[in-house]
Amino acid sequence: MQGVTVVDHPLVAHKLTLMRESGRSTKSFRELAREIGLLLGYEALRDLPVDMVEIETPLESTLAPMIAGKKLVLAPILRAGLGFLDGFLEIAPSARVAHVGLYREPATLQAVRYYFKAPADIADRLVLVLDPMLATGNTAVAAIDLLKERGARDIRFVCLLAAPEGVARLRQAHPDVAIVTASIDARLDDHGYIRPGLGDAGDRLFGTR
Ligand code: URA
Repeated sequence: MQGVTVVDHPLVAHKLTLMRESGRSTKSFRELAREIGLLLGYEALRDLPVDMVEIETPLESTLAPMIAGKKLVLAPILRAGLGFLDGFLEIAPSARVAHVGLYREPATLQAVRYYFKAPADIADRLVLVLDPMLATGNTAVAAIDLLKERGARDIRFVCLLAAPEGVARLRQAHPDVAIVTASIDARLDDHGYIRPGLGDAGDRLFGTR
């Protein structure tokens, strides 16, 4: 599907399978989220432009690539997006971090805003929106609406799992936003959970259930 990358690397697939297992501890789930975050970040940033710069190796001078151009903003959607953040910061330690506080109203599944803070120069930066689960798409669309209102122009959305319904909704609302995911699962259930899924990502990350 155009604008959607499913990262099917065996390491990602294996780690995702471990995360799906219901008996997995909070500690292990959290470690896996960080590791997959790092691997998805690597894929999401694969087309970053580079400049050739002159450097000195211990043996001679040479031209070698260095990342050029836009700097990054990582924008985790609270709270489950925080579970991804550390892995991304490991590969992009200078990135700025925007916090997007949205929760799903249980009855309507609509996104409700409770916090938003983003760097002032967000318009000049590539923004990666981080949320492990792309379910109905309502939260992702609301987060990207907020980021665009603040000036963001170059946005990608990175998740662990997506439902086909969420992918369709996000592509329709924001066709300029590419999606990177480790899996597109079968469907959404009546409660807005992704099936087969991995349950409530926030609860599993923070041990609140
Ligand atoms: N959010 C979750 O944490 N899990 C789902 O399956 C859907 C939304």
